[in-house]
Order: sequence, then C-alpha cells, then structure tokens
Amino acid sequence: MSFAVAIDGPAASGKGTIARAVAAHFGFLHLDTGLLYRAVGRQMLDGVAALKAAEMLTPDRLDDPSLRHADVAQAASKAAAIPEVRAALVDFQRAFARRDGGAVLDGRDIGTVICPDAEAKLFVIAAPEIRAHRRCAELRASGFDVTEAEVLDDLRARDERDMNRADAPLKPAEDALMLDTTEMSINDAVAKAVAVIEKLR
Ligand code: C5P
Repeated sequence: MSFAVAIDGPAASGKGTIARAVAAHFGFLHLDTGLLYRAVGRQMLDGVAALKAAEMLTPDRLDDPSLRHADVAQAASKAAAIPEVRAALVDFQRAFARRDGGAVLDGRDIGTVICPDAEAKLFVIAAPEIRAHRRCAELRASGFDVTEAEVLDDLRARDERDMNRADAPLKPAEDALMLDTTEMSINDAVAKAVAVIEKLR
C-alpha cells in the first residue's frame, strides 16, 4: 500500500531535515525533489539545454556534491520556472510518491501539483534570517566559504522567483498543515511533524 507525505516550503526552512527524519521514523523512502532541479541546473551551467537535461536525467546524477553550490541553486530555480522542464520531471516524482511502502517527497509543489492527493501535507516556513543562518552553517560545514548576507541574498532571489512563477509556484496546498520552525529546535519540529502524520495513518 502507498502512503504519500508531501513536505513543501522555501529553501532552508527545515523541510529537508524534517522529511529525512519522518522517512526514517516511518520506514518510508525519501526523495528530495530539489535535487532533480539542481541536477538540471548543474548541467545548464555546463552548457546543456535545460529541457534536454531534464529529459535525460538519471538518478545517479543526484549524488553529485557540487549540487549544493549556490550557483547551482540559482540555475535550478531558473530551470524550475520553465514549464516543459517541470513537466519532464512529473512522472518520476509521481511514481516515487505511489510506490509501495510509503514515500516522503520534499519540494515546492508536491502538495499542490505532484501529489495533490497525498495522505499528509506539510508546509514548512521560517523567518528568512533564521533560514540564512542555518543554511550558512550547513554550507560552511561542507567547506563552502560563504557569508550569511550572501546566503540571505540567494534565498531571497530564489523565494522571489519560486513564488512568482506562473507554473507550480511555491505556495501551500489548501489542506496543508503549516509548520513555522523559526523558534523551534529541529527535534521539536520533527516531533510535531511525526505526531501530525501519525494521526493520519
Ligand atoms: O529545495 P532546493 O533548494 O534544493 O531546490 C532548488 C530549486 O529547485 C528551488 O529554488 C526551486 O526553484 C526548485 N524546485 C522546484 N520544485 C520542487 C523542488 C525544487 O521548483 N519541487
């Protein structure tokens, strides 16, 4: 039997960490859908046309550590505004959501477009400064030399593009539960998400 959990929200809101922890808790598989767009963005930076990159995407490309780079994130959000690129990635995500045994997908449009019939939907938000602080720490831990101000600029530019695009803009599904992690520890945010999903099973 399938059970789909959709976790959407802006970059560095905590959704990825929550998604991984929820998947581990329930024994579900997890797909970070941002990696699909990052893999396309990565190839765009290498001169490959966005649509071609999306159509030829294979899962082995999702393991590349360079996908975390800020340039790749910006290219990803540009690629993600192209409707044909999004369309090319839909089937893979829907099949993942409906595989046997349960799945957690995190992204921007999982609850609205990819899986509007998901059994559980969360929309995770946090204040931009907190998101920049967290993402900066993550990037530094991975060896990237960045400042909080640069990271905040990057997040704001992507929020703006992701929320205002015509196709599948970043927004909560009407039936999504809102989770504001600004003043929550990650453990509390995970516990809250697990409790909400537990009730829906
Ligand atoms: O989540 P992450 O920051 O890795 O996503 C990178 C970019 O991919 C986002 O800024 C967004 O433009 C795009 N994206 C999307 N839809 C998703 C996941 C990511 O448009 N479901």
